[in-house]
Amino acid sequence: MPSIRLGIVGKGGVGKTTVAGLIARAYVEQGQRVVAIDTDSNPNLGLSLGLTLAETEEVPVLPRSIIVGSGGSTTADRLIAEYGRETPAGPTLLSAIRVAEAGAGCTCGGHATVRGMLADALSDVDVVLVDMEAGLEHLSRSGGTLAYADVLLVVCEPTRKSVLTATRTSALADELGIPVTLAVGNKAQSAEDADFFADTLNDNGLSLAAVLPFDPQIAAADRGGADEDAVSPAALTAAVEQILAAVADTRAAVG
Ligand SMILES: Nc1ncnc2c1ncn2[C@@H]1O[C@H](COP(=O)(O)OP(=O)(O)OP(=O)(O)O)[C@@H](O)[C@H]1O
Ligand SMILES: [Mg+2]
Repeated sequence: MPSIRLGIVGKGGVGKTTVAGLIARAYVEQGQRVVAIDTDSNPNLGLSLGLTLAETEEVPVLPRSIIVGSGGSTTADRLIAEYGRETPAGPTLLSAIRVAEAGAGCTCGGHATVRGMLADALSDVDVVLVDMEAGLEHLSRSGGTLAYADVLLVVCEPTRKSVLTATRTSALADELGIPVTLAVGNKAQSAEDADFFADTLNDNGLSLAAVLPFDPQIAAADRGGADEDAVSPAALTAAVEQILAAVADTRAAVG
């Protein structure tokens, strides 16, 4: 079975990194080998996976613009071995982009490396998960970062703007040829919020994989700089499992 490549996208602040961390943990709990790639120039997926801030900052950044796979100087497997760091939560973390200084130039080279890694076959990984930086340019740029993703998860919060972003993202994903896009509603505080997701996403032709509740403990863990290890109320766990099931279903359908 080839590994599944998941891209996690959405408007700024909707919860991409939080959802990426929860999904990565859930796959590990299923016994899967998971590689999580942080493409945010202000990387913090490490925190969601149980690393301290100092440890997260020490994760070496992937080389830029290298050709991966046949004809290239390295392979995705080798990059994971060399640049990946184990996290307390289980996934191996890779850091693709880091802007350490002002005016350091564009991040295209880092995105190109991630694109190449997703295109290359992996021998020992079941799930590759990419936590994307907010914004749509990495889907629209020629040869988008996620061109080789199998499934795109578009995270939304209960706001019209985030749903609008999800709609635009889904259209770009279609153009890029990503086979499946699923929406994830996050931070729902009421039944109205859950209905809002169902109605607006449906109207826009997006299928809703699950709705995650707003969880005060996630917000508190974030404020305290703690990881989300202790945070798994039943509703949240159930929603994350629904996402994994929806991904598995669509994979089975697409083949
Ligand atoms: N289900 C939730 N319940 C409560 N708070 C949440 C939930 N999901 C995310 N948050 C909080 O929302 C904020 C943004 O979350 P996160 O950093 O995961 O978003 P993001 O989309 O990755 O942001 P960015 O665009 O900056 O990368 C954080 O403070 C996080 O703790
Ligand atoms: Mg983020």
